Amino acid sequence: MRTQVGIVGAGPAGLVLAHLLHRQGIDSVVLERQSREHVERRVRAGVLEHGTVDLLTEVGLADRLLRERMVHHGLELLFEGEAYRIPLRELSGQDITIYGQHELVKDLIAARIATGEPLLFAVDDVVLAGLDGVTPTISFTEDGARRELHCDIVAGCDGFHGISRDHVPDGAATYYEREYPFAWLGILAQARPSSEELIYAYHDRGFALHSMRSPEITRLYLQVRPDEPLAEWPDERIWSELRSRLARRAGGWTLSDGPILEKGITAMRSFVMDPMRYGRLFLAGDAAHIVPPTGAKGLNLAVADVLVLAGALDAWFRSGNSALLDAYSQTCLRRVWRVQHFSWWMTSMLHRAADADPFTHQLQLSQLRYVTSSRAAATSLAENYVGLPLPGRG
Ligand code: FAD
Ligand code: DHB
Repeated sequence: MRTQVGIVGAGPAGLVLAHLLHRQGIDSVVLERQSREHVERRVRAGVLEHGTVDLLTEVGLADRLLRERMVHHGLELLFEGEAYRIPLRELSGQDITIYGQHELVKDLIAARIATGEPLLFAVDDVVLAGLDGVTPTISFTEDGARRELHCDIVAGCDGFHGISRDHVPDGAATYYEREYPFAWLGILAQARPSSEELIYAYHDRGFALHSMRSPEITRLYLQVRPDEPLAEWPDERIWSELRSRLARRAGGWTLSDGPILEKGITAMRSFVMDPMRYGRLFLAGDAAHIVPPTGAKGLNLAVADVLVLAGALDAWFRSGNSALLDAYSQTCLRRVWRVQHFSWWMTSMLHRAADADPFTHQLQLSQLRYVTSSRAAATSLAENYVGLPLPGRG
């Protein structure tokens, strides 16, 4: 088998890249370890920046998204039992879109299949070779048989736990990492959202987040310890904890509940690889960097990476000019570090470490009071939250 770009991973990064390349007349093969059913059911992100939505719209990937999404003009910060609204649209001129990542992945898979180009699910034992030469190969097992794919370029879009990054030799990249002493327990519930907008809550018992997927489905998160087994969180404990952390001093607000459809715990970390490249291997999305989820940025960052990569590959395949490809990592990392800072900042402001000292707690409250009372501070939050312009746009 031969292709121009071998793409490892059919998450948002791999699938959007495949689509952009197809529009530019560049062939690719997408290899995914999981089954189609698995990736279409994996519940994760929910917030899309306006730039992500605009890009998906321009390239014909947003028909269902534009019909079914929820558009939010603001969000709430809740602390000391009081809720404060950050009017995103008024402050930044932009809105955010709520649309489940797995719904987007379904749309991306359907679009890929419609092109007739290869997207192979359930492939095993993916191994990369020849990355420092001109014809890298990807070998993998499909239906029990070992196969080899010869490429010009390999795109490592296989997420944080993928294998692409492991093929970068020791010393060829620098890794920056921070682990946080907490994790998120996320649930999807058959319950009407209790508020029209997202609520980010700082509470003595820890962070909580109220989000949603549709007028009938709520998405909620609770800060928990990273080592906490899900078994310690029966449904009633989750609801009771959410009710405490999302309560308002004045009363009059109730959290609607309902059957829990999905439950999971996610560790939180910040991670950046620099450069996001080794020879003919280009890493994109969570394979190259991870942000803690508090800023709702990971998926959006993955899309920004592949937009840059697709543009650079277009120039290179068309004219042999490697300037954009050589600048790929640097171009992406400028945005990555801005988003890293924002995500770290939101995380630090809103979470409560088990051993938090009173000084830190006062700093957090002061920061929350500032961001909810100063137009300048709120505008900074809003402009980062709705998303800074994508590279090369604006
Ligand atoms: P992934 O989605 O991880 O896709 C990688 C793919 O590669 C997967 O399909 C995987 O099965 C496949 N793969 C792995 N190993 C191999 C292999 N060896 N061979 C072949 N295939 C392989 N982001 C936001 O922007 N907004 C949010 O609101 C938000 N909320 C989040 C909430 C939670 C609880 C979590 C966990 C994440 C959230 N994120 C959010 C982050 C977002 O989900 C990720 O950043 C996003 O999925 C990254 O996309 P990706 O394509 O880079 O990686
Ligand atoms: C959602 C996830 C996030 O990480 C976030 O910051 C806001 C909302 C969500 O899944 O809806």
